[in-house]
Amino acid sequence: MTTSAEASRATLVRAIAEGQAHQRGALIPILHEVMDECGYVDTADLPVIADVLNLSIAEVRGVVSFYHDFATAPPPSHTITLCRAEACQSVGAQQLYDDTAARLAAGQFGHSAELREVFCLGNCALGPAGTLDGRLYGQLDHDRLTTLTAEWGAR
Ligand code: FES
Repeated sequence: MTTSAEASRATLVRAIAEGQAHQRGALIPILHEVMDECGYVDTADLPVIADVLNLSIAEVRGVVSFYHDFATAPPPSHTITLCRAEACQSVGAQQLYDDTAARLAAGQFGHSAELREVFCLGNCALGPAGTLDGRLYGQLDHDRLTTLTAEWGAR
């Protein structure tokens, strides 16, 4: 069963594809416009684009998977980056990373939040260091992360 959101996305993707189908090598510009408008290229977009360009779905999928610029899933709602380099390791970064990974898996930061590791953020004197949605923080621990992410809908 198709939801109205899926139907409206398919209509938008078809309009994008039809709008660019006339140009040579239209597939790449179409995929970029779908990324701009929708945030990522969904599996359901592939047959729509293939139909408009008279390509096989496999051909469209091949191009999407070849270029790393084309995301195939919605972007994460929030991103936590934790430093795992030596200075931060010496003040508990590994334990914080493991704890945060477990909390993330339990959905405590929202269901599409993402945890990344990084090796030094240049904030070594204030470890464990990390970023929350790109903003740098120091002296992170379980409770501070809870406070800082409270507005993310953490449970
Ligand atoms: S080692 Fe963690 S910020 Fe430099």
